[in-house]
Amino acid sequence: MTIRRFTIDDYDAVFELWMACPEMELNDTDDSREGVARFLARNPDTAWVAQEDGRVVGVLMVGTDGRRGYVYHAGVDPACRGKGIGSALADTALDTLREMGLSKAGLLAFADNRPGIEFWERHGFVRREDLSYLSCVLGRIQRIEH
Ligand SMILES: CC(C)(COP(=O)(O)OP(=O)(O)OC[C@H]1O[C@@H](n2cnc3c(N)ncnc32)[C@H](O)[C@@H]1OP(=O)(O)O)[C@@H](O)C(=O)NCCC(=O)NCCS
Repeated sequence: MTIRRFTIDDYDAVFELWMACPEMELNDTDDSREGVARFLARNPDTAWVAQEDGRVVGVLMVGTDGRRGYVYHAGVDPACRGKGIGSALADTALDTLREMGLSKAGLLAFADNRPGIEFWERHGFVRREDLSYLSCVLGRIQRIEH
């Protein structure tokens, strides 16, 4: 298994992988080819894929703004889980953010995604019971059912 930068050429394989992860919320704007290309243009050094036998089996993206790193859409092919691929991606991401001098990373997980939350807790993330997440829809956006 190797970990390398996620480029837009990986989009089709990555999107297929995301679609195979029911725990992940996808939408037709951010997760479109254009949306992902925009994200990668802004965050070219903090998005990775894991590859095995030439096939993309894992993905993780981090958006940074000079203050925090926000982890998005970590996913491993359901047939390849439990082998350390997710951990290798998480370690790569957290090491890179430390090298960049950032002091904190964050992520959002659905409250019912216990395995996902426990995965991140094993990687040092702590659930903040004192915070509420608020979001505001700024433009047209539609959830992709999968
Ligand atoms: C969370 C996720 C990325 C972890 O990827 P992974 O490659 O399975 O992760 P790892 O193999 O590094 O670690 C999984 C842990 O579960 C254990 N495990 C054992 N069997 C497993 C299985 N069949 N599936 C998943 N994990 C298993 C592993 O031993 C490991 O435990 P450890 O950390 O104590 O060693 C992956 O499960 C996934 O894609 N989930 C769906 C999407 C998701 O929830 N993303 C996170 C949103 S917050």
